[in-house]
Order: sequence, then C-alpha cells, then structure tokens
Amino acid sequence: MTDLCFATNNKNKIAEVSQMLADKYKLLSLEDIGCHEELAEDQDTMEGNSRQKAQYVWEKYKVNCFADDSGLEVDALCGAPGVYSARYAGPQRSDSDNITKLLQSLQGVENRKARFRTSVTLYLNGQEYQFEGIVNGTITHEWKGDKGFGYDPVFLPDGHEQTFAQMGAAEKNAISHRGQAIRKLVNFLKAQAGA
Ligand code: IMP
Repeated sequence: MTDLCFATNNKNKIAEVSQMLADKYKLLSLEDIGCHEELAEDQDTMEGNSRQKAQYVWEKYKVNCFADDSGLEVDALCGAPGVYSARYAGPQRSDSDNITKLLQSLQGVENRKARFRTSVTLYLNGQEYQFEGIVNGTITHEWKGDKGFGYDPVFLPDGHEQTFAQMGAAEKNAISHRGQAIRKLVNFLKAQAGA
C-alpha cells in the first residue's frame, strides 16, 4: 500500500475518500504525517490554492499528497464569490452571513446562474496532476433545506428540484463538484496502482 496524505483537517472528507480508495492506498491526514500547522491558501484561484497546499506538503514532508479547494461562481456577480466563498461576508466565515449577502447582492437580478467548482491537485512521486469538478445550477430566492453546509440551502443544481441542502449526502455527492473531482482523482490513482 502506498501512503497518500489528504491535505485537509476535515475528518469527514478523509473518511469519504478513504472508503473510495479501498485497499490500494493508505490515506493519511495532516495530523498523521505530523503536520499541525494551518496550511496557507492565499492564491487568487482555486487551482492556485489546491496546488499551494499540496506542493507545500510534498516539499516539506516528502509524502505523496493531494489537496482540494472549492467555491461558488455566480454569473451575475462576474464569478464572485469564487475563491473567496468561505469569507464572502467577512473573516468570521459564517455560512448564514455569506448566504444573506449573496441573496442581497442578487435582489432583483434575473440571471441566477451559478456553478460550484472544485480543484484537486495531486503530488505523486513529485509529479503534479490537477482534476476539476463542476456542477451547474441556479441561486434560489429563498433558503431551502437544512442539510449540508455553506451555500447548499440556496443552490439548486440543474435538472433537480431540490437544493443541495434538501438532499442526502449520497445524493449530493453523486452530482457535486467535489464528488466529481474526487472520483476523477480516485480513478487516476487506481489506474496508477494497477499499472
Ligand atoms: P472548501 O475549499 O471545500 O473549504 O470550500 C470553500 C467554501 O466554498 C466553503 O466554505 C463554502 O462556503 C463554499 N463551498 C464549497 N463547497 C461547497 C458545497 O458543497 N456546498 C456549499 N458550499 C460550498
């Protein structure tokens, strides 16, 4: 089994990917590799942020690793909040403040098209690979549902009648930006391990 670090402190994300990788890779958290610092993510794109985190772990700890970064891009706001999604309404990183600001910014706006995007960067034996996942949808006028996190209550994915916050985790994961990017990563890793 090859050691592979997921450069995140989110235990739910680790458990989810661990299950998908089965027995080919031993998935390690930042804690597992002795990294107790907050990783910088101060680039101005999601690709830049996922690369910054993965590259840092590879260079400092010399362990194969990958990192993710996601955000919501709203057409009528020229792609905002994008890479700044977590702190759109301020440094307190409050989901409800962010949604309130988003709905206010879109008051009276007809074009409510938006997409969630995830960038994943993998460092495998010093080689860099990137994977992307996108889900298109619209921003609702009101909050709907209480599951999930972030902007889920106001994001209605195309072709569905429920917001992400009204869906179960498995249903969301099957179509979400993060689910798509991680599945691309996992398929790539499985092919590498089988080769
Ligand atoms: P992260 O890169 O996964 O930490 O995502 C950054 C920010 O984007 C989060 O704090 C949320 O505000 C937003 N975001 C990313 N993915 C999702 C999602 O699946 N649902 C709702 N909001 C999300």
